[in-house]
Amino acid sequence: MTTARYAALLLPSANRVYAEASHELLAAELEILADAVRPGLLRDLGTDRLGGVQYVTFVADDLGDRDVRRLANASSLYALFRLEDGALHPVLAPRLDRLDDDLVTIQKYAGKTNEQFTRLLLNVTVAASASAGEMLDRPLRVLDPVCGRGSTLNQALLYGWHASGIDVDTQDMEAYATFVRTYLQRKRLKHTVAFGPVRRDRKVVAKRLEATIGMTREEFKAGDVRELDVVAADTRRVGEFFRPGSFDVVVGDLPYGVQHGSRVAKGELQRGPLELLTSAVPAWKAMLRPGGAMGLAWNTHVAPRAEAVEVLAGHGLEVVDADPYLRLRHRVDQSIDRDVLVARRPAKGASAR
Ligand SMILES: C[S@@+](CC[C@H](N)C(=O)[O-])C[C@H]1O[C@@H](n2cnc3c(N)ncnc32)[C@H](O)[C@@H]1O
Repeated sequence: MTTARYAALLLPSANRVYAEASHELLAAELEILADAVRPGLLRDLGTDRLGGVQYVTFVADDLGDRDVRRLANASSLYALFRLEDGALHPVLAPRLDRLDDDLVTIQKYAGKTNEQFTRLLLNVTVAASASAGEMLDRPLRVLDPVCGRGSTLNQALLYGWHASGIDVDTQDMEAYATFVRTYLQRKRLKHTVAFGPVRRDRKVVAKRLEATIGMTREEFKAGDVRELDVVAADTRRVGEFFRPGSFDVVVGDLPYGVQHGSRVAKGELQRGPLELLTSAVPAWKAMLRPGGAMGLAWNTHVAPRAEAVEVLAGHGLEVVDADPYLRLRHRVDQSIDRDVLVARRPAKGASAR
């Protein structure tokens, strides 16, 4: 057995996003990514100053290539080193990323979920799902039920996964459609794209963007494409547009009750995330495969964690309410204290708690 100590260096921008919580968040995310496949793999997680720079450190036995490739995707990880005789030895840690990462950074707009947090939310949700062991091996299917201008969708595509989304804000999805078209053309990625109204009984019931994208020319030619499918409609209608039981994960950053209110329709009263959750969770749950996981972020100032847990558990989801998932809460600014809630749709044969 080879036991070694490791040091993880944070992306410099992580401090801007998470302020003082950045090291704790990276430690929690690394533990979650490791535990998903090899429980207890990382021990003695902590922080250390080496040459005046702060690192997240941990000990692991027989850290293998696949373990490193999973950990490499941690949202604020910059570089990983093995510590030996007081020296830092770089560990080759390739990320899953199949496209240029400007896919997640180019778009700038008010209300955007920052790209590092989006990646964290996706990672910890996948880690709780029955698909965790396959994240390196096959394109997963991701649905963001409050997708805005596509931060989660872009992150899923960056990983080379399939991305679906729904948002009530038609302007947001139109802006996203324009971005996607331009991006695919500018990067010369082989694709097909269709954007237009969805009609039923001669009435327009929604707007939809459907694209197929080849990660490479060869893959596109061979029909090995990723699907991007985005609908502008109320999230509770998600079942009208997407196939039930077809997603590995449902991941969303709920309205914060600050810039964004969750609304039933344009012009109606702004509502809190709890009301949205209560009315939308049954439809979201139905989208998940058995063993699939739902990961939601929200502002605890407008909805206490215990109440959000109650809503998810009340709908037969298994809430992952244990350490290290409980260490993901962090302050964003004066008006937002953000937390993450992850819950699983029970696998077939398992009874709901
Ligand atoms: C925090 S924002 C998500 C931002 C997104 N992650 C991004 O970076 O573009 C929450 C989103 O929830 C959407 N939303 C609120 N109520 C909704 C509803 N009933 N159905 C669908 N979307 C809703 C809002 O339009 C908003 O885009």
